[in-house]
Amino acid sequence: MSSAEREAPTVPTTAELGSLADTADVEPWGFYEQVREKGDVVLDERLNAYLVSNYDLLRAMGRADDALWKAAFVPDDENPPFGLTRVEFTWFMAFGSSQNLALLEGEPHDHQHRWWMKAFSPRLLAHWGETLIAPIANEILDDLAPRGRGELCAEFADEVAPRVIAAVMGLPSDREWVSRLLSLQASRLAYKQQQADPSPDPELRRVAFEGTQEMIEMLEPHVMSRRSGEGDDFISMVWRDAPNVFGTDAYEDVDVASVVLMAWEGGSGTTMYSTANGLYILMTHPQLQERLREGGRPAIKGFVEETLRLYGPVVFRPRTAKADTTLDGVPICKGDQVIAMTVSAGTDPGHYSCPYDVDVERPSPRDHFAFGVGGNRVCPGQGLARVELEEIADVVLRRLPNLRLDPEAEPARYRELLMRRWEPLWSLWG
Ligand code: HEM
Repeated sequence: MSSAEREAPTVPTTAELGSLADTADVEPWGFYEQVREKGDVVLDERLNAYLVSNYDLLRAMGRADDALWKAAFVPDDENPPFGLTRVEFTWFMAFGSSQNLALLEGEPHDHQHRWWMKAFSPRLLAHWGETLIAPIANEILDDLAPRGRGELCAEFADEVAPRVIAAVMGLPSDREWVSRLLSLQASRLAYKQQQADPSPDPELRRVAFEGTQEMIEMLEPHVMSRRSGEGDDFISMVWRDAPNVFGTDAYEDVDVASVVLMAWEGGSGTTMYSTANGLYILMTHPQLQERLREGGRPAIKGFVEETLRLYGPVVFRPRTAKADTTLDGVPICKGDQVIAMTVSAGTDPGHYSCPYDVDVERPSPRDHFAFGVGGNRVCPGQGLARVELEEIADVVLRRLPNLRLDPEAEPARYRELLMRRWEPLWSLWG
């Protein structure tokens, strides 16, 4: 049955509420609650997609991921993303590697995903936390802390998180190199966000393609210099384990480079935005800072999970149905778009008591959807992300006493649409 043949839907719609697309740059919780009141599966007519925000339904979607739901960047020759050919798309998304996790499905995907999930062992993460993450956070605060005021998105979150990921990977972690890589990534993201647009902006495409070429040129020498696999950085690990990563000896340099691209793009913006959102929570809950200082690492761990539950940076996750199915009794046809509202489900009162409270002692602190809804595509960098966010919070609590928003400066707003954070963070401390 095609969408056109479907009977007049009894499915509730967002018609009088507007669209998820209208929530860019505004606080979306009112919209989320109204959608939830309408039902567990609600049609967003403007996006031509079903919004799902019930906690249990998202869990069920996670269990059927890949089998029933196609991820956004798995190539689809019937509906090629951005109208690109398969070769162009593979070059843009994965530097030309056909062995990139985001593009793979089935056992080749799952094999590589299993490697990623095991790659970040607790011992390695503790080592990186001590030798790389805390020192970088401290170094940035050596300049900033004595000033007593600053804008902590640009001056701290945007500095610390990408430099940490670069250092962990074995890439240069100096400011200029990292910020150039970030700006190329931003140009790629601007284009990727036009994926569903039948006629994407040609200028965005030109900039994104040129940015991709420059990114290849920036990363390539560093990827190749680790080829011996002898270091304790991520790139050396990929070389060392390459036959296991790809499940075959038939891999090429570009496949390794594409894993590096994946780690950089998966791990830099997300941790940057989560750092900012954690700072926002600290500054809007003043008693929390003392509570975390007293509670030490267990309390900080709880705080990181609450940051991810309430303000996980990736606020929804699109999927396409691979076959006709139903969701909570609503018929979904092959090809229909379904949007898992991951941050909205983080405040589902059917699952969380006092969902808007920051409670660092929740009984199952990690049961949120910030890293995906479960299943075989769940974020494999989550262990690293957690250690990074914990170390950064620990350093901030030590170095920036009495941290608060500057009441006389421009207030923080919950910015953007798919990847979201509180910005600017004009702050005072001391
Ligand atoms: C707070 C930080 C992070 C957040 C919130 C986050 C969130 C996510 C989400 C929502 C997904 C999609 C899951 C899905 O589609 O079901 C994902 C996938 C992924 N993430 Fe993360 N991530 C973070 C950090 C990292 C880091 C540090 C790395 C690696 C260094 C990483 C690597 C990846 C990769 C490789 C995938 C693709 C998995 C696949 O397609 O099988 N992420 N992440």
